[in-house]
Amino acid sequence: YGDANQKIDYVFKVVLIGDSAVGKSQILARFARNEFSLDSKATIGVEFQTRTLVIQHKSVKAQIWDTAGQERYRAVTSAYYRGALGAMLVYDITKRQTFDHIPRWLEELRSHADKNIVIILIGNKSDLEDQRAVSTEDAKEFAEKEGLFFLETSALESTNVESAFMTILTEIF
Ligand code: GTP
Ligand code: MG
Repeated sequence: YGDANQKIDYVFKVVLIGDSAVGKSQILARFARNEFSLDSKATIGVEFQTRTLVIQHKSVKAQIWDTAGQERYRAVTSAYYRGALGAMLVYDITKRQTFDHIPRWLEELRSHADKNIVIILIGNKSDLEDQRAVSTEDAKEFAEKEGLFFLETSALESTNVESAFMTILTEIF
């Protein structure tokens, strides 16, 4: 954590997308500040946070962009995707609809982002296993078919959040 007086070798822009309330902002809060809030408010417009890490002896500044899942709060799409080298496509494992919307998000991503963008599918809220509505197998199969990386995360319990970002950043690298 912390960007303390470091020489930066690379800046990698990564965007978060997915339906409202799947946990995009809390995944980012966990990654950038190791924080989590249960009463997170819906994002309006665009926010971003950075964290600098060392990958293969180079310092990489990850610039993570977060926008609203709700259509009416969304910012200009083309500007959001411009220059993005990675994307996290997030659904909530307890809300089937958020997984069913993934093909739409993928379509938006593929029509606005660079064709070489690295994409990871994220099933968030893995701590709510008793409310699971999307099986790991279904998601894994979809990800394989579409050529996406895939992980289930919990921003609350801090499970796989670091791995998810490292998967993208290392692949971009
Ligand atoms: P928009 O900004 O509207 O697009 O939503 P978002 O995807 O940014 O969702 P947000 O991060 O604001 O989280 C929505 C709700 O889910 C909040 O109440 C969070 O505390 C909760 N939440 C986020 N991640 C997790 C998680 O891993 N587990 C559990 N149990 N709750 C989570
Ligand atoms: Mg948000």
